[in-house]
Amino acid sequence: MWKVSLFELDFDRCESDAVAGVLESQWLTMGQQTQSFESNFSAFLNNGVSSTAVSSCTAALHMALLAVGVQPGDEVIIPALTFVADINVVKMIGAIPVLADSNSYEDWNISVQSVAEKITDKTKAVIVVHFAGYPCDMGDIVHLCQERNLYLIEDVAHAPGASYKGTHCGTFGDVGCFSFFTNKNLSIGEGGMFVTRNDSLHRKAGYLRSHGMTSLTLDRYKGRAVSYDVVQPGLNYRMDEMRAAIGQVQLQKLSKGNIRRCQLVKHYIQELSGCHRILIPFLAHIENTNITAAYHIFPVLLPVDCDRADVIQMMKNNGIQTSIHYPSFRDFSAFKDMSFTITPIADEISRRVLTLPLFPTMSLEQVNLVVDSIKQAVGCH
Ligand SMILES: Cc1ncc(COP(=O)(O)O)c(C=O)c1O
Repeated sequence: MWKVSLFELDFDRCESDAVAGVLESQWLTMGQQTQSFESNFSAFLNNGVSSTAVSSCTAALHMALLAVGVQPGDEVIIPALTFVADINVVKMIGAIPVLADSNSYEDWNISVQSVAEKITDKTKAVIVVHFAGYPCDMGDIVHLCQERNLYLIEDVAHAPGASYKGTHCGTFGDVGCFSFFTNKNLSIGEGGMFVTRNDSLHRKAGYLRSHGMTSLTLDRYKGRAVSYDVVQPGLNYRMDEMRAAIGQVQLQKLSKGNIRRCQLVKHYIQELSGCHRILIPFLAHIENTNITAAYHIFPVLLPVDCDRADVIQMMKNNGIQTSIHYPSFRDFSAFKDMSFTITPIADEISRRVLTLPLFPTMSLEQVNLVVDSIKQAVGCH
């Protein structure tokens, strides 16, 4: 249907073989594959982390809030510009989401100053998102959270493999939450990872993931346990072996995929450089040698005088799929009655953002097609 879709999987025989191997082993969940995916992921991130494989990033975020002890009525500061999972998990706990604004139209990440302004006596935790795969200003964020005694949760759904001053995103805070949803840099369909350097949080994550139980089905099968205790309430947020096996193959492809994404983004930037009607964010991140980005998506800001729906339709007519990262929470019917603090920059970005296709198997010719189409759509010729 599309000449250029928003995302395509980078799967080959290796992923199929990995799944076939699991099916042949006849052990389908929480076994050797899950354990090795966790240890390989920890080794990849380094910085002394332990990883707990879960069913989604949303599950990891929910577990993170539960593990650090966020209670109903507590406030959790989140970016105004992010996926709905971040506000949903806070609401599901009965806590109060407080929105912080983006830095600027050039840097869409959460503003440390805005976070500082939103802190009250009720604030318990801060969730940051490394938007589009570009690391947040972690030096200042870590400092602020330590100074104000707040838990720091990193939503790393966009940024596996990204680093800030040599340290991997997801290893700065108390918990890092990764997504392996289909369209992510590391795709397994549905899945996520809860990552922490704190032994107590790691232990709690194991219980939260699996009903608070002290032994797994595998332990009983192997004769290591005959029964189990339940030491706290828990959920079923487990990952299965098929996904863990695909995850290990995808982990091996991650760094190469991120490098290819970087080349494609630089090609986009070069080809769009004459079109001043389109604003490309995060250019300073790309030039900053202290930062390695994961280049998850390629969002741009359309001119104020452009009707975004028309642009999307024109791109569609040319066979190009686009997306919006993200609509404002304020526009969702579920949150209509909530009184959010003002976040003018994030709101304006939500109104004008358009995400263009980006995936490692994309060709430079496909980038050129997208560029020609967007230039035409915004009147840049
Ligand atoms: C920033 C962000 N956070 C959280 C999520 C939720 O991830 P999952 O689908 O694995 O629950 C996503 C997924 O799109 C995301 O983009």
